[in-house]
Amino acid sequence: MKALVVQSAFGFENIAVVDRPDPTLGPGQVLVRVRAVSLNFRDLLLVKGQYNPRLQFPRILGSDAAGEVVEVGDGATRFKVGDRVANCFMTGWSEGPITDAAAKSALGSDRDGVFAELVPIDERALVNVPEHLTFEEAATLPCAAVTAWNALTTAETGPGTTVLLQGTGGVSIFALQFAHALGAKALITSSSEEKLARAATLGVTAGVNYRTNPDWDKWARQQTGGSGVDVVVEVGGAGTLERSLKAVRTGGHVALIGVLAGTGAINPMMILMKAIRVQGVFVGSHAMFEEMNRVIVEKRIRPMIDRVFPFAEAGAAFKHLESGSHFGKVVMSF
Ligand SMILES: NC(=O)c1ccc[n+]([C@@H]2O[C@H](COP(=O)([O-])OP(=O)(O)OC[C@H]3O[C@@H](n4cnc5c(N)ncnc54)[C@H](OP(=O)(O)O)[C@@H]3O)[C@@H](O)[C@H]2O)c1
Repeated sequence: MKALVVQSAFGFENIAVVDRPDPTLGPGQVLVRVRAVSLNFRDLLLVKGQYNPRLQFPRILGSDAAGEVVEVGDGATRFKVGDRVANCFMTGWSEGPITDAAAKSALGSDRDGVFAELVPIDERALVNVPEHLTFEEAATLPCAAVTAWNALTTAETGPGTTVLLQGTGGVSIFALQFAHALGAKALITSSSEEKLARAATLGVTAGVNYRTNPDWDKWARQQTGGSGVDVVVEVGGAGTLERSLKAVRTGGHVALIGVLAGTGAINPMMILMKAIRVQGVFVGSHAMFEEMNRVIVEKRIRPMIDRVFPFAEAGAAFKHLESGSHFGKVVMSF
Protein backbone atom coordinates (compact mmCIF):
# COMPACT_ATOMS: atom_id res chain seq x y z
CA MET A 1 0.00 0.00 0.00
CA LYS A 2 0.99 3.65 -0.40
CA ALA A 3 1.59 5.77 2.69
CA LEU A 4 2.74 9.34 3.30
CA VAL A 5 5.80 9.13 5.52
CA VAL A 6 8.23 11.56 7.11
CA GLN A 7 11.28 9.49 6.35
CA SER A 8 14.50 9.98 8.27
CA ALA A 9 14.61 13.62 9.37
CA PHE A 10 12.33 16.64 9.81
CA GLY A 11 11.59 18.96 6.87
CA PHE A 12 9.23 19.02 3.88
CA GLU A 13 12.01 17.62 1.71
CA ASN A 14 11.81 14.45 3.81
CA ILE A 15 8.15 13.62 3.27
CA ALA A 16 7.26 11.14 0.52
CA VAL A 17 4.53 8.75 -0.60
CA VAL A 18 6.22 5.32 -0.27
CA ASP A 19 5.27 1.65 -0.57
CA ARG A 20 4.60 -0.14 2.69
CA PRO A 21 3.49 -3.74 3.33
CA ASP A 22 -0.31 -4.07 3.71
CA PRO A 23 -1.18 -4.04 7.43
CA THR A 24 -2.56 -7.06 9.30
CA LEU A 25 -5.38 -6.84 11.85
CA GLY A 26 -5.11 -7.27 15.60
CA PRO A 27 -8.05 -8.34 17.80
CA GLY A 28 -10.84 -5.78 18.02
CA GLN A 29 -9.55 -3.92 14.97
CA VAL A 30 -11.06 -3.26 11.57
CA LEU A 31 -9.24 -2.48 8.33
CA VAL A 32 -10.24 0.79 6.66
CA ARG A 33 -9.58 1.52 2.99
CA VAL A 34 -8.97 5.25 3.19
CA ARG A 35 -10.78 7.35 0.59
CA ALA A 36 -9.87 10.85 1.82
CA VAL A 37 -7.78 12.53 4.51
CA SER A 38 -7.48 16.11 5.75
CA LEU A 39 -4.49 18.14 6.83
CA ASN A 40 -4.13 20.04 10.08
CA PHE A 41 -1.76 22.76 11.22
CA ARG A 42 -0.36 20.10 13.56
CA ASP A 43 0.89 18.10 10.53
CA LEU A 44 2.95 21.13 9.46
CA LEU A 45 4.39 21.54 12.97
CA LEU A 46 5.14 17.82 13.12
CA VAL A 47 7.05 17.76 9.82
CA LYS A 48 9.03 20.83 10.88
CA GLY A 49 10.01 19.16 14.18
CA GLN A 50 8.04 21.66 16.28
CA TYR A 51 5.32 19.31 17.57
CA ASN A 52 7.16 16.19 18.70
CA PRO A 53 10.95 16.71 18.64
CA ARG A 54 11.44 13.07 19.74
CA LEU A 55 9.48 11.67 16.77
CA GLN A 56 10.64 8.17 15.75
CA PHE A 57 11.42 7.95 12.01
CA PRO A 58 10.00 6.82 9.69
CA ARG A 59 6.48 7.75 10.72
CA ILE A 60 3.22 7.63 8.73
CA LEU A 61 1.69 11.10 9.02
CA GLY A 62 -1.86 12.22 9.63
CA SER A 63 -4.72 12.17 12.11
CA ASP A 64 -7.84 12.56 9.95
CA ALA A 65 -9.25 9.99 7.54
CA ALA A 66 -12.51 8.65 6.18
CA GLY A 67 -13.02 5.46 4.22
CA GLU A 68 -14.72 2.07 3.96
CA VAL A 69 -14.39 -0.96 6.19
CA VAL A 70 -12.83 -3.77 4.11
CA GLU A 71 -12.09 -6.36 6.82
CA VAL A 72 -13.26 -7.02 10.38
CA GLY A 73 -10.81 -8.55 12.90
CA ASP A 74 -11.43 -11.13 15.62
CA GLY A 75 -13.71 -9.83 18.35
CA ALA A 76 -14.73 -6.66 16.46
CA THR A 77 -18.52 -6.37 16.32
CA ARG A 78 -19.46 -2.71 15.78
CA PHE A 79 -18.85 -2.45 12.02
CA LYS A 80 -19.27 -4.58 8.92
CA VAL A 81 -17.54 -4.63 5.55
CA GLY A 82 -18.73 -1.68 3.44
CA ASP A 83 -19.51 0.68 6.34
CA ARG A 84 -18.40 4.29 5.81
CA VAL A 85 -16.31 5.40 8.78
CA ALA A 86 -14.06 8.17 10.08
CA ASN A 87 -11.41 7.77 12.80
CA CYS A 88 -11.02 9.51 16.14
CA PHE A 89 -7.91 11.66 16.63
CA MET A 90 -7.07 9.58 19.72
CA THR A 91 -7.62 5.82 19.71
CA GLY A 92 -7.80 5.63 23.52
CA TRP A 93 -10.38 8.27 24.54
CA SER A 94 -13.90 6.86 24.60
CA GLU A 95 -15.68 9.29 26.92
CA GLY A 96 -15.39 11.36 30.07
CA PRO A 97 -12.44 13.58 30.93
CA ILE A 98 -9.15 13.23 29.06
CA THR A 99 -6.43 11.05 30.63
CA ASP A 100 -2.69 10.71 30.11
CA ALA A 101 -3.19 7.45 28.26
CA ALA A 102 -5.79 9.03 25.97
CA ALA A 103 -3.48 11.94 25.12
CA LYS A 104 -0.69 9.50 24.27
CA SER A 105 -2.96 7.59 21.88
CA ALA A 106 -3.11 10.41 19.30
CA LEU A 107 -2.51 9.20 15.75
CA GLY A 108 0.30 10.41 13.52
CA SER A 109 2.86 11.37 16.17
CA ASP A 110 3.92 8.76 18.75
CA ARG A 111 2.23 6.13 16.60
CA ASP A 112 1.66 5.79 12.88
CA GLY A 113 -1.07 7.95 11.41
CA VAL A 114 -3.76 7.52 8.79
CA PHE A 115 -2.29 9.04 5.61
CA ALA A 116 -2.19 5.59 3.99
CA GLU A 117 -4.33 3.51 1.67
CA LEU A 118 -5.08 0.93 4.38
CA VAL A 119 -5.36 1.65 8.10
CA PRO A 120 -5.91 -0.96 10.85
CA ILE A 121 -7.72 0.67 13.74
CA ASP A 122 -9.44 -0.24 17.01
CA GLU A 123 -13.17 -0.30 16.27
CA ARG A 124 -13.79 1.80 19.39
CA ALA A 125 -11.91 4.65 17.66
CA LEU A 126 -14.24 4.81 14.66
CA VAL A 127 -17.54 6.57 14.01
CA ASN A 128 -20.07 6.16 11.20
CA VAL A 129 -19.91 8.89 8.58
CA PRO A 130 -23.13 10.96 8.41
CA GLU A 131 -25.04 9.90 5.29
CA HIS A 132 -25.19 13.34 3.69
CA LEU A 133 -21.39 13.77 3.74
CA THR A 134 -18.88 12.72 1.09
CA PHE A 135 -15.66 10.97 2.14
CA GLU A 136 -13.81 14.26 1.52
CA GLU A 137 -16.19 16.11 3.85
CA ALA A 138 -16.07 13.38 6.51
CA ALA A 139 -12.26 13.41 6.46
CA THR A 140 -12.31 16.99 7.78
CA LEU A 141 -14.01 16.02 11.05
CA PRO A 142 -11.63 14.08 13.38
CA CYS A 143 -9.38 16.93 14.56
CA ALA A 144 -10.64 20.43 13.66
CA ALA A 145 -14.37 19.76 13.96
CA VAL A 146 -14.21 17.75 17.20
CA THR A 147 -11.90 20.39 18.70
CA ALA A 148 -14.32 23.19 17.81
CA TRP A 149 -17.24 21.15 19.17
CA ASN A 150 -15.44 20.35 22.43
CA ALA A 151 -14.39 24.01 22.85
CA LEU A 152 -17.90 25.41 22.36
CA THR A 153 -19.84 22.82 24.34
CA THR A 154 -17.40 22.88 27.27
CA ALA A 155 -17.89 26.67 27.29
CA GLU A 156 -21.68 26.02 27.49
CA THR A 157 -22.33 27.91 24.26
CA GLY A 158 -26.03 28.34 23.57
CA PRO A 159 -28.72 30.83 22.59
CA GLY A 160 -27.68 34.34 23.66
CA THR A 161 -23.96 33.51 23.67
CA THR A 162 -21.55 35.60 21.57
CA VAL A 163 -18.43 33.74 20.43
CA LEU A 164 -15.26 35.36 19.06
CA LEU A 165 -13.38 33.34 16.44
CA GLN A 166 -9.83 33.97 15.21
CA GLY A 167 -8.98 33.57 11.54
CA THR A 168 -10.69 31.42 8.95
CA GLY A 169 -8.78 28.11 9.22
CA GLY A 170 -10.20 24.66 9.87
CA VAL A 171 -11.03 25.00 13.58
CA SER A 172 -12.50 28.51 13.34
CA ILE A 173 -14.82 27.79 10.42
CA PHE A 174 -16.16 24.67 12.15
CA ALA A 175 -16.61 26.77 15.30
CA LEU A 176 -18.61 29.27 13.23
CA GLN A 177 -20.91 26.54 11.91
CA PHE A 178 -21.35 24.94 15.34
CA ALA A 179 -21.91 28.29 17.08
CA HIS A 180 -24.89 28.84 14.78
CA ALA A 181 -26.11 25.28 15.30
CA LEU A 182 -26.05 25.92 19.07
CA GLY A 183 -28.00 29.16 18.65
CA ALA A 184 -25.06 31.52 19.36
CA LYS A 185 -23.79 34.60 17.52
CA ALA A 186 -20.28 34.60 16.01
CA LEU A 187 -17.76 37.41 15.52
CA ILE A 188 -14.64 36.66 13.48
CA THR A 189 -11.19 38.10 12.77
CA SER A 190 -9.15 37.53 9.61
CA SER A 191 -6.10 38.91 7.81
CA SER A 192 -8.10 39.06 4.58
CA GLU A 193 -11.07 41.22 3.47
CA GLU A 194 -12.02 38.57 0.95
CA LYS A 195 -12.19 35.89 3.66
CA LEU A 196 -14.23 38.22 5.90
CA ALA A 197 -16.70 38.62 3.03
CA ARG A 198 -16.92 34.82 2.70
CA ALA A 199 -17.45 34.48 6.44
CA ALA A 200 -20.30 37.01 6.17
CA THR A 201 -22.04 34.71 3.69
CA LEU A 202 -21.83 31.99 6.37
CA GLY A 203 -23.70 34.22 8.78
CA VAL A 204 -21.09 35.85 11.03
CA THR A 205 -22.60 38.83 12.82
CA ALA A 206 -19.48 40.96 12.23
CA GLY A 207 -15.86 40.58 11.19
CA VAL A 208 -12.66 42.59 11.52
CA ASN A 209 -9.26 42.52 9.82
CA TYR A 210 -6.67 41.84 12.55
CA ARG A 211 -3.85 43.17 10.34
CA THR A 212 -5.35 46.58 9.62
CA ASN A 213 -7.15 46.71 12.98
CA PRO A 214 -4.75 45.20 15.54
CA ASP A 215 -7.07 46.44 18.36
CA TRP A 216 -9.60 43.71 17.56
CA ASP A 217 -10.16 43.19 21.29
CA LYS A 218 -11.58 46.72 21.55
CA TRP A 219 -13.66 46.08 18.42
CA ALA A 220 -15.06 42.89 19.98
CA ARG A 221 -16.08 44.75 23.14
CA GLN A 222 -17.77 47.43 21.01
CA GLN A 223 -19.76 44.71 19.23
CA THR A 224 -21.11 43.59 22.60
CA GLY A 225 -22.08 47.00 23.95
CA GLY A 226 -18.78 47.29 25.85
CA SER A 227 -19.13 44.21 28.02
CA GLY A 228 -17.05 41.68 26.03
CA VAL A 229 -17.81 38.37 24.35
CA ASP A 230 -18.89 35.29 26.28
CA VAL A 231 -16.47 32.88 24.64
CA VAL A 232 -13.20 33.20 22.70
CA VAL A 233 -12.04 30.27 20.57
CA GLU A 234 -8.36 31.05 20.98
CA VAL A 235 -6.25 29.56 18.17
CA GLY A 236 -3.46 32.16 18.09
CA GLY A 237 -1.72 31.27 21.36
CA ALA A 238 0.63 33.62 23.15
CA GLY A 239 0.50 36.11 20.27
CA THR A 240 -3.23 36.66 20.71
CA LEU A 241 -4.09 35.52 24.25
CA GLU A 242 -3.54 38.89 25.92
CA ARG A 243 -6.08 40.51 23.56
CA SER A 244 -8.46 37.57 23.95
CA LEU A 245 -8.45 38.15 27.71
CA LYS A 246 -9.36 41.79 27.04
CA ALA A 247 -12.06 40.83 24.52
CA VAL A 248 -13.86 38.37 26.82
CA ARG A 249 -16.40 39.55 29.40
CA THR A 250 -15.91 39.26 33.14
CA GLY A 251 -16.72 35.67 34.02
CA GLY A 252 -16.32 34.63 30.37
CA HIS A 253 -14.57 31.63 28.86
CA VAL A 254 -11.42 31.35 26.73
CA ALA A 255 -10.96 27.98 24.99
CA LEU A 256 -7.21 27.64 24.55
CA ILE A 257 -6.58 25.63 21.42
CA GLY A 258 -3.75 26.77 19.20
CA VAL A 259 -0.34 28.29 18.75
CA LEU A 260 -0.66 29.97 15.33
CA ALA A 261 0.81 33.24 16.58
CA GLY A 262 3.64 31.64 18.56
CA THR A 263 4.45 30.99 22.20
CA GLY A 264 5.70 33.37 24.92
CA ALA A 265 5.09 34.90 28.35
CA ILE A 266 1.57 35.76 29.53
CA ASN A 267 0.55 38.05 32.38
CA PRO A 268 -2.11 36.12 34.35
CA MET A 269 -3.46 39.23 36.15
CA MET A 270 -6.50 39.72 33.92
CA ILE A 271 -7.54 36.08 34.28
CA LEU A 272 -8.08 36.51 38.01
CA MET A 273 -9.31 40.11 37.98
CA LYS A 274 -12.04 39.21 35.46
CA ALA A 275 -12.53 35.66 36.82
CA ILE A 276 -12.06 34.25 33.32
CA ARG A 277 -12.26 30.50 32.77
CA VAL A 278 -9.28 29.53 30.59
CA GLN A 279 -9.81 25.99 29.40
CA GLY A 280 -7.20 24.00 27.46
CA VAL A 281 -8.73 21.86 24.72
CA PHE A 282 -7.11 18.76 23.22
CA VAL A 283 -9.40 17.62 20.39
CA GLY A 284 -12.06 15.39 21.99
CA SER A 285 -13.39 11.93 22.79
CA HIS A 286 -15.27 9.34 20.76
CA ALA A 287 -18.44 10.34 22.63
CA MET A 288 -17.96 14.01 21.64
CA PHE A 289 -17.45 12.97 18.00
CA GLU A 290 -20.74 10.99 18.08
CA GLU A 291 -22.60 13.86 19.76
CA MET A 292 -21.21 16.33 17.18
CA ASN A 293 -22.24 14.04 14.32
CA ARG A 294 -25.80 13.95 15.63
CA VAL A 295 -25.93 17.75 15.32
CA ILE A 296 -24.22 17.67 11.89
CA VAL A 297 -26.98 15.32 10.73
CA GLU A 298 -29.81 17.23 12.38
CA LYS A 299 -28.69 20.62 11.01
CA ARG A 300 -27.43 19.22 7.69
CA ILE A 301 -24.05 20.87 8.26
CA ARG A 302 -21.52 20.49 5.44
CA PRO A 303 -17.84 21.07 6.21
CA MET A 304 -16.15 23.92 4.36
CA ILE A 305 -13.50 22.42 2.07
CA ASP A 306 -11.02 24.87 0.57
CA ARG A 307 -9.33 22.50 -1.86
CA VAL A 308 -8.89 18.78 -2.57
CA PHE A 309 -5.47 17.51 -3.74
CA PRO A 310 -4.73 14.03 -5.11
CA PHE A 311 -2.79 11.98 -2.51
CA ALA A 312 0.15 11.80 -4.95
CA GLU A 313 0.46 15.61 -4.62
CA ALA A 314 0.82 15.60 -0.84
CA GLY A 315 3.78 18.00 -0.96
CA ALA A 316 1.66 20.60 -2.76
CA ALA A 317 -1.17 20.10 -0.23
CA PHE A 318 1.22 20.77 2.68
CA LYS A 319 2.57 23.89 0.94
CA HIS A 320 -0.97 25.12 0.35
CA LEU A 321 -1.85 24.75 4.03
CA GLU A 322 1.39 26.46 5.02
CA SER A 323 0.61 29.44 2.77
CA GLY A 324 -2.41 30.26 4.99
CA SER A 325 -4.41 31.16 1.87
CA HIS A 326 -7.04 28.51 2.62
CA PHE A 327 -10.55 29.05 4.05
CA GLY A 328 -11.68 26.01 6.05
CA LYS A 329 -10.06 22.63 5.36
CA VAL A 330 -7.45 21.23 2.99
CA VAL A 331 -8.15 17.64 1.88
CA MET A 332 -6.32 14.88 -0.01
CA SER A 333 -8.30 12.31 -1.92
CA PHE A 334 -7.32 8.74 -2.86
N1 LIG B 1 -5.61 21.81 20.91
C1 LIG B 1 -6.12 21.06 19.95
O1 LIG B 1 -6.67 19.99 20.18
C2 LIG B 1 -6.04 21.55 18.55
C3 LIG B 1 -6.82 20.95 17.56
C4 LIG B 1 -6.80 21.49 16.28
C5 LIG B 1 -5.97 22.58 16.01
N2 LIG B 1 -5.19 23.10 16.99
C6 LIG B 1 -4.37 24.27 16.77
O2 LIG B 1 -5.25 25.35 16.49
C7 LIG B 1 -4.65 26.22 15.55
C8 LIG B 1 -5.56 26.33 14.35
O3 LIG B 1 -5.60 25.10 13.69
P1 LIG B 1 -6.25 24.98 12.26
O4 LIG B 1 -6.14 23.55 11.87
O5 LIG B 1 -7.57 25.64 12.25
O6 LIG B 1 -5.22 25.84 11.40
P2 LIG B 1 -5.31 26.37 9.95
O7 LIG B 1 -6.48 25.78 9.23
O8 LIG B 1 -3.97 26.23 9.34
O9 LIG B 1 -5.65 27.91 10.19
C9 LIG B 1 -4.79 28.91 9.76
C10 LIG B 1 -5.52 30.26 9.80
O10 LIG B 1 -5.43 30.83 11.10
C11 LIG B 1 -5.48 32.23 11.00
N3 LIG B 1 -4.39 32.87 11.77
C12 LIG B 1 -3.06 32.72 11.63
N4 LIG B 1 -2.42 33.55 12.49
C13 LIG B 1 -3.38 34.23 13.16
C14 LIG B 1 -3.37 35.24 14.13
N5 LIG B 1 -2.23 35.75 14.61
N6 LIG B 1 -4.55 35.70 14.59
C15 LIG B 1 -5.72 35.21 14.12
N7 LIG B 1 -5.79 34.26 13.17
C16 LIG B 1 -4.63 33.79 12.71
C17 LIG B 1 -5.34 32.57 9.53
O11 LIG B 1 -6.65 32.95 9.08
P3 LIG B 1 -6.85 34.20 8.10
O12 LIG B 1 -6.19 33.79 6.81
O13 LIG B 1 -8.31 34.37 8.01
O14 LIG B 1 -6.16 35.37 8.73
C18 LIG B 1 -4.89 31.27 8.90
O15 LIG B 1 -5.32 31.13 7.58
C19 LIG B 1 -3.26 25.63 15.29
O16 LIG B 1 -2.32 26.23 16.15
C20 LIG B 1 -3.42 24.18 15.60
O17 LIG B 1 -2.21 23.55 15.95
C21 LIG B 1 -5.21 22.59 18.25
